[in-house]
Amino acid sequence: MSTIDAGLSGQFKIGDLTVNRLGFGAMRVTGKGIWGPPANREGALATLKRLPEIGVDFIDTADSYGPDVSEELIREALHPYKGLLIATKGGLTRGGPDQWTPNGRPDYLIGQAKKSCAKLGVERIDLWQLHRIDPKIPRDEQFAAVRQLIDEGIIGHAGLSEVSVAEIEAAQKVFPVATVQNRYNLTDRASQDVLAHCEANGIGFIPWFPLASGKLAQPGGLVDRIAKAHGATAGQVALAWLLARSPVMLPIPGTSSVAHLEENVAAAGLRLTPAEMAELDAA
Ligand SMILES: NC(=O)c1ccc[n+]([C@@H]2O[C@H](COP(=O)([O-])OP(=O)(O)OC[C@H]3O[C@@H](n4cnc5c(N)ncnc54)[C@H](OP(=O)(O)O)[C@@H]3O)[C@@H](O)[C@H]2O)c1
Repeated sequence: MSTIDAGLSGQFKIGDLTVNRLGFGAMRVTGKGIWGPPANREGALATLKRLPEIGVDFIDTADSYGPDVSEELIREALHPYKGLLIATKGGLTRGGPDQWTPNGRPDYLIGQAKKSCAKLGVERIDLWQLHRIDPKIPRDEQFAAVRQLIDEGIIGHAGLSEVSVAEIEAAQKVFPVATVQNRYNLTDRASQDVLAHCEANGIGFIPWFPLASGKLAQPGGLVDRIAKAHGATAGQVALAWLLARSPVMLPIPGTSSVAHLEENVAAAGLRLTPAEMAELDAA
């Protein structure tokens, strides 16, 4: 694979905005435990700046990554975002490294979305996702806050994260659900029903932790064998499998390294054979 072009992954429309399906997750441009600044700030900025050069126009972040660090670095590297869709999230608070606590109070969600506008330097966030439904607050109050963000023009489109089909259906009664972000990869397909629902309803499905392939990537394992047949890496096979699995699939592999970014985006051009897809589907 010589061409590095996220455009080879195909396109998906989020409302009136078309993005290349292979995107980027900006959670990893922060410090250890997704806390504080990255160890290599210049490397993280270089990684972000490389995105548009290799066709990545869909970037996922959150107010809680750092917190603030990821959104601020994205602005420093990429503002004014010509042709880029920057998607962010709100609804998780941080107490320290690796600590995440939901806060779904409507005033908090609305305030955080406004702060994300300011940090990203935009008048309107193209896609804002409720990071978690807070179990302590009635979900309809949280959905009403999202509706209000859309109605007030603070956000263009809205999505959900780590949700069931029933929760998506409940939310769709309050606002149009543009995307759903659940963990999904070769080794974890618990959200298969959610993916099917997204595909049936034209909702973008954003699988997080997309690079995981676990034991399948061990020497001699299925992913290792398929990777070697293509002169590819296990991570590239994991991404190619996701992209081929559904036209609504929008993987967002994350890294703070230009070399890893280029390797991941090269997977947009990797085509698995029907036999390889069948083996991976069955694994
Ligand atoms: N909605 C949610 O609740 C939620 C939860 C988690 C994540 N997310 C989003 O999903 C995105 C992806 O999730 P993720 O970061 O957990 O999983 P991932 O992208 O599958 O994996 C990232 C990890 O793999 C490493 N890596 C990346 N490319 C590599 C390569 N080519 N070779 C070797 N190692 C590589 C990264 O380290 P290096 O930096 O060293 O490359 C990092 O440790 C995040 O950035 C975030 O935007 C959402």
